[in-house]
Amino acid sequence: MKIIGSYPKTRLRRLRKSKWIRDLVSESNISFNDLILPIFIRDGRNKIEKIKSMPGVKRYSVDKLPVILKQVQKYQIPMVALFPYTPDNKKDQIGSEALNPENLVCKSLRFIKKNYPEIGLMSDVALDPYTSHGHDGIIIKNKIDNDQTIKVLVKQAILQAKMGCDVIAPSDMMDGRIGAIRKALDKKKFHDVSILSYAVKYASSYYGPFRNAVGSKSKLKKDKKTYQMDYRNITESFRETGLDIKEGADMIMIKPGMMYLDIINRLKKNFNVPILAYQVSGEYSMIKNAINKKILTEESILESILSFKRAGACAIITYFAIEIAKKLKKIN
Ligand code: PBG
Repeated sequence: MKIIGSYPKTRLRRLRKSKWIRDLVSESNISFNDLILPIFIRDGRNKIEKIKSMPGVKRYSVDKLPVILKQVQKYQIPMVALFPYTPDNKKDQIGSEALNPENLVCKSLRFIKKNYPEIGLMSDVALDPYTSHGHDGIIIKNKIDNDQTIKVLVKQAILQAKMGCDVIAPSDMMDGRIGAIRKALDKKKFHDVSILSYAVKYASSYYGPFRNAVGSKSKLKKDKKTYQMDYRNITESFRETGLDIKEGADMIMIKPGMMYLDIINRLKKNFNVPILAYQVSGEYSMIKNAINKKILTEESILESILSFKRAGACAIITYFAIEIAKKLKKIN
């Protein structure tokens, strides 16, 4: 880029001198339209419980979902992402509960579709909330078996679509699952159900608080490095994204967020699909804890979210969604 001008004729501070002019020339902005709120669901009735690993985030029983959904409505968050805290006695080696039409995600999808039809619904396709070993796939001979897992994921995706899910989000990182899911959705005439592929999902330690929130942390043996991406790599993110688009993904997700802004930026420049980012649980808890301890101010939240927009993300999944939308409303 050619730099034009020189001091004293050129003074960059002129365009920073008051709020209105800074707003006028700002290049990236965040709106409530760019936010997706993850919601944790638990069993039982009349239950709202705090999650230790994620201060300020709660788990809701299905009947209590209106408490949070009313906020979603009020602040016009376009979509929510559902995550179940499955009771231990419903977990097994193969994650059978994932295919139970009465599981927490299915119940919630039906409930929200019926009572809050204007809210977009997204749900994860992966087995980790349902397996006794905490992995996203089925273990055969001590390995996460790619092709056997896909067969179950396809069924899980179809079930979620039947229950009213708008956006199917495979987060399991098996090879070839996007193509298989798209084919099955089309065969069942779910042409309008879209696929948001967690195409670029790194094996990250920043998922820790989430695993606690869905109750898979204590279960998980070893790590997820045989299927999630190696954080030393960039090239792989191009291959993953290219393949998933070819297989039928409508949107691509990059995860975690803040540590991977370089990846968001590169993919945005090279692919013409919507790129979304997930500000994951570890990022959330880090910022939230620092705010609670008065190490950071509340504005650090907006700054973190804006970095995703600057990098090129069109939307962000964030546990701060309501807080951010509240702040934006106040400003407007
Ligand atoms: C499950 C899944 C994970 C997250 C979303 N879906 C965790 C994992 O892969 O272990 C992480 C979300 C977060 O940390 O906020 N496949």
